[in-house]
Amino acid sequence: MAGRMSGKVAIVTGGAQGMGRSHALLLAAEGAKVVVTDVREAAGKAVAEEISDAGGSARFITHDVTQSADWQRVLEETVNEFGKLDVLVNNAGILILKPLDETAEEEWDRTMEINAKGTFLGCKLAAPALQAAGGGSIVNISSIYGLIGAPSAAAYQASKGAVRLLSKAAAVDLAKFGIRVNSVHPGVTSRHSSTERNSWSTAATPRSNPGLVLSRLSVSKWNTEPAQM
Ligand SMILES: NC(=O)c1ccc[n+]([C@@H]2O[C@H](COP(=O)([O-])OP(=O)(O)OC[C@H]3O[C@@H](n4cnc5c(N)ncnc54)[C@H](O)[C@@H]3O)[C@@H](O)[C@H]2O)c1
Repeated sequence: MAGRMSGKVAIVTGGAQGMGRSHALLLAAEGAKVVVTDVREAAGKAVAEEISDAGGSARFITHDVTQSADWQRVLEETVNEFGKLDVLVNNAGILILKPLDETAEEEWDRTMEINAKGTFLGCKLAAPALQAAGGGSIVNISSIYGLIGAPSAAAYQASKGAVRLLSKAAAVDLAKFGIRVNSVHPGVTSRHSSTERNSWSTAATPRSNPGLVLSRLSVSKWNTEPAQM
């Protein structure tokens, strides 16, 4: 069934690769106009072009989710170009695989800054645009590691646990504006990053179809119609 996002405008952060790219492609396939954002310009532009080439509507905007000024620019450019904002997918994130006793203070700070603060800024700063559209939906990509304990990912798990409860708090606080907030908690999923410090171990995990997790998620998570709640 296609077209479930027809008429909707969505922002996907960290959309240059991996799951963010998959989110952007599926939203576009369902009819949304998609703004792909990322710190990685060339790869992000390629995703927007991939959507356009397939007949969809998309553009790329360079965006560091830790920077308020970047958020303001992304939101302004989105509304200027597409007229409104209905959906925000806070997907950008990093993973540093280290046990607690080996995690440097700077690694903790960077993980919390991107994964937790970046999500906070997105929820807070996008809320006025979502409200102006008559309400909307925020989807925060947490992780199974935001729910359970596991070895060698202390900072990451703390950041994804923060995303989980931030989402609950935001859902309560933003409900009065007609904005729904959900967190999503994927397990280990195939991706395309080559950076060493920001890498998932796939040694014990079959490399799967990048759309696998998405195919298991209800797109109603992203929709904004009250009937989909
Ligand atoms: N891959 C998995 O197994 C898995 C499992 C559970 C949750 N997640 C979460 O899903 C999301 C995507 O994961 P992925 O595996 O596709 O990651 P990925 O590393 O492939 O992609 C993450 C993207 O975020 C971007 N990014 C990093 N820092 C940024 C910043 N400051 N501002 C804007 N963009 C930034 C990167 O450039 C990259 O394009 C992350 O939040 C991750 O924690 C992934």
